[in-house]
Amino acid sequence: MTPETKQNLADPDSEAAEIRASLMRGLPEIPCRFLYDETGSELFEQITHQPEYYQTRTELAILEAHARDIGKIIRPLEYVELGAGSGRKTDLLLGAMDTLECCVLTDISEDFLKESVARLRVAHPNLQLRGLTADFLSNLGVLGQSKRRLITLLAGTLGNLHPGAVPGFLRRVAQQLTPEGGFLVGIDLIKDPARIEAAYNDRAGVTATFNKNILSVINKRFEADFPLDAFEHRARYDTENSWVDIRLQATRPVDIHAKALDLKLRFNTGEEIRTELSCKYSPESFAAVAQDTGLKIREIYSDNEGLFANILMVREDG
Ligand code: AVJ
Repeated sequence: MTPETKQNLADPDSEAAEIRASLMRGLPEIPCRFLYDETGSELFEQITHQPEYYQTRTELAILEAHARDIGKIIRPLEYVELGAGSGRKTDLLLGAMDTLECCVLTDISEDFLKESVARLRVAHPNLQLRGLTADFLSNLGVLGQSKRRLITLLAGTLGNLHPGAVPGFLRRVAQQLTPEGGFLVGIDLIKDPARIEAAYNDRAGVTATFNKNILSVINKRFEADFPLDAFEHRARYDTENSWVDIRLQATRPVDIHAKALDLKLRFNTGEEIRTELSCKYSPESFAAVAQDTGLKIREIYSDNEGLFANILMVREDG
């Protein structure tokens, strides 16, 4: 397969229907995968370098400390990363696992993925490496069964799933593993709400730009006319649900027409569109959603401030 193989990207008609319906809800919503066109992926990369955004550097340090241990426990022949992004952590993990023969990187941003795959091919010439453009949060099935495999979902991306959808997702991951396989997942831990909110409201305003970019993606994809300057970034930590609720709030009344959706909408001042949920867990609350999914927790790796955790799961029957 070529590096740019596309799999299970939503077909245009059902995608239009989905977004139309979610924009028409009581609280209008745009699915967060629309954050990641090439510009959005680059903006997220910039977020990871902001001083307030502790997640990426914390996870990198955790993986640096424990990648060899993970390699020894699973001894994977195949490495599959869901949402590989820039490939910085991939490089680290591939370098630490000497049993590997092949590697599949997936991401929803095709151009971004191509660059990462090309770079990793140079760094790991002995590995069979391929890229797959796909949204694996919604469909994992195309992977199929294989030999001993380690699947990773890093960077707290699991947090984009509503907690109610996590058990089903973990069950599907378990089905893509043989009994010896493993799943390594990144989890942003519940902590001081001020610290969390600061990470989603960086002073340089990169997160705000990243969030508003979703409107340009929708404008291009669905011939819409959202004026970006009529919306402001909002990110609040909801302590009851343990999630960051990320929205765009209208600063003046706006009328929107999305031609390709055959949809007209009015937003009054103060009305909001939800663009992302970023759910936080404690080791206990994660263990609770992972109950009876076919996967069990083998190791929890964390930093000494308890900011972030990488949880290694194995099959219950493994
Ligand atoms: C890529 C989902 C891990 O939730 O922290 C960062 C995305 N959104 N700032 C996160 C994001 C706003 C990020 N994840």
